[in-house]
Amino acid sequence: MKDPVAIILAAGRGTRMRSDMPKVLHTILGKPIIRYVLDSVNDAGISDAIVVAGFGHELLREELVEAKIVVQEELLGSGDAVNTAGRALKDYSGDILVICGDTPLIRARTIRNMLQKHKSSGASVTILTAKLSDPTGYGRIIRDDKGAVTGIVEQEKADLCQEVINEINVGTYCFKAAELFEALDAVKPDNKKKEIFLTDTISILKNKGKLIESYLTQDPDEAIGVNTRIDLAYSTAVMKGRIAKELMLGGVTIEDPASTVIYPGVKIGKDTTIRSNTVIEAGVEIGEGCTIGPFTRIRPKVSIGDNVEVGNFVELNRTTVGSDSKIKHHSYLGDAVIGKKVNIGAGTITANYDGKNKNKTIIEDGAFIGVGAVLIAPIKIGAMAMVGAGSVVPKNHDVPKGKIVVGVPARIYKKRKPADRRIKKNRRE
Ligand code: UD1
Ligand code: CA
Repeated sequence: MKDPVAIILAAGRGTRMRSDMPKVLHTILGKPIIRYVLDSVNDAGISDAIVVAGFGHELLREELVEAKIVVQEELLGSGDAVNTAGRALKDYSGDILVICGDTPLIRARTIRNMLQKHKSSGASVTILTAKLSDPTGYGRIIRDDKGAVTGIVEQEKADLCQEVINEINVGTYCFKAAELFEALDAVKPDNKKKEIFLTDTISILKNKGKLIESYLTQDPDEAIGVNTRIDLAYSTAVMKGRIAKELMLGGVTIEDPASTVIYPGVKIGKDTTIRSNTVIEAGVEIGEGCTIGPFTRIRPKVSIGDNVEVGNFVELNRTTVGSDSKIKHHSYLGDAVIGKKVNIGAGTITANYDGKNKNKTIIEDGAFIGVGAVLIAPIKIGAMAMVGAGSVVPKNHDVPKGKIVVGVPARIYKKRKPADRRIKKNRRE
């Protein structure tokens, strides 16, 4: 195992979520909470991570196929969870990062800074802390009159003086392996909950005269542990804000960040404007100079070129749109490949699903689809072809390039003339 190793605690039931699903599999912008934690750990340069699963561990295994997972058979507390992982770390003697699987807002940068401080100070343990205006529910950091950390007191055990302490335990720590497990051996189960609290190791190490360090994050949002669906909504808002901020700094205009939902990993080119109430899901790529929205939904596996307009109540799914194309109102395009300079009229629908298969629609460069057209896939509309308003184009009845089809079912009407008034008008727009 490569030093440092991470232990991610994710066995808890998440009782306060009131869910049949393990808490850490609930999603923030389409991505499970635990993935955020795992990604931050990996991005901080830690390649060896052990995930401690318990409640719903089969589901966790399904989601984290690539991860090393150990199962905590009985949920006997965070300390017991670390011991469970410890059994998979027999002769390991480096540093161990312990992190809660329910803290999705911790940044890789913060973990890296904390590890650096841990290394340079030579401390037995370095604790990540944050200062919260409302610390209720979190473990409080106890310091002596010189400011040195002497322990962590959990909410339930805090007295009135400790309750007002606003510096809290984020639940992320870096320990020297041997000292962690030695201290854990000395932790007695909590009287009420019968759990082994990992947090009790801190005062044990302190009493042994070991050096305890802390690293304070300047961003209190990083500390948020998702315990309830209210925490989940708050974390989603924070994550959404971070994503929007990064895009805006990269040259994207977001008209109304509050009503815009952009999932992690979306790429958007500069001078593109995202208008209000738009949802853009994972992995979508949008070029430069586009206008998207208001009220657009772009689902995964969509790639959009430059200078494209996608307007209100348009849904795109598994679709490629070439540069300079327009899909301005009320359309659904799924499993489609749209060329360049294509105009999709209002209300155009690709009927991509026949009850068994998802079929492809290809619309080549310069084609013009009239309002309310239904294109039954698999179908190809040739370059510069035109589909009349309200037409239904049956599957496998490809429209030859440059031809006009109309009707239900659509039949070839005539050849589209390049001098067609409508084409000229369309180009001027
Ligand atoms: C914990 C900390 C608290 C800290 C807070 C930060 C302890 C005792 N307390 O409290 O100091 O401020 O996190 O969010 O650690 N888990 C297991 N197995 C168990 C019990 C828990 O794997 O038997 C995991 C949970 O899945 C969770 C993490 O440990 O990811 C923390 O457990 P949780 O019950 O959420 O602890 P908190 O009360 O939030
Ligand atoms: Ca928690």
